[in-house]
Amino acid sequence: MQLVHITDLHFGCEDRTALTAVAKYVRNLKPDAVIVTGDISKDGLASEIDAACDWIRSLESPAMLTPGNHDVPYYEMWGRLFYPWDRIRRAQHGIQHEAWHTDQWSIVPINTARAWQFRLNWAQGEMSRGQTAIAAAELHKAKAGALRIVITHHPLDWPNDAPIKGVTRGGVRGLRKLADAGAELFLSGHLHFASARLFETRALSIGSGTLSQRLRHEPCAFTVIRRPHSNVIETEVVHIKQGVCETASTRQFKLNTPERPGASGEVHALPTTA
Ligand SMILES: [Fe+2]
Repeated sequence: MQLVHITDLHFGCEDRTALTAVAKYVRNLKPDAVIVTGDISKDGLASEIDAACDWIRSLESPAMLTPGNHDVPYYEMWGRLFYPWDRIRRAQHGIQHEAWHTDQWSIVPINTARAWQFRLNWAQGEMSRGQTAIAAAELHKAKAGALRIVITHHPLDWPNDAPIKGVTRGGVRGLRKLADAGAELFLSGHLHFASARLFETRALSIGSGTLSQRLRHEPCAFTVIRRPHSNVIETEVVHIKQGVCETASTRQFKLNTPERPGASGEVHALPTTA
């Protein structure tokens, strides 16, 4: 199984050179699926969202999308309040956006973005108890042996070394509940920063970089995820420099879950090929 995790494309301030390189890479790789964790636009303009969805479809791989905080109409108060997701709903035809169950995986999207919130920084994420319960119910539908994946725009638990600080409301509580419901892999964006962290011994949280000009200490990046053994997840972080995709790191993590018991932890760091 091979997945490509892409996030924070930010059409409107996208990095054209990086997008061209990624599209070529993905078309050659032919992954089983491309997962996009939101912020596909800069200001939530219909033209930005349409262009981003066209680009995702052009990758010629099955794709799945969950929105980010930039995908609501940024400068239209009326739209933001009353129909924040209309544009992305209209644009995402042909792209999965609801729970997706196959023999290989169950991918459960949760929209952690909010059009507004009772806090100053409404760009930060939130996951309600209701969303958590619905997602847990979806995870229980997973077929035996399928990898259970939860995708959100905001990280549920922010890494300590993240370039921006914040909190996803209900994130840590939800992370634990979803791990209890069998989630083994969490994918997110928002930070424009690649990271991979184990949650206890039973789940892995992966954050991927951006494909936009809004860089935070790292070049444009995305992640290739493989499953070399049933209880091992491999992450390959790919950087794009001057239009060339090169491996920045490859890591393997062993999970200890009720279905796949055993020792857990990072297996070993593989040599960088770049
Ligand atoms: Fe972003």
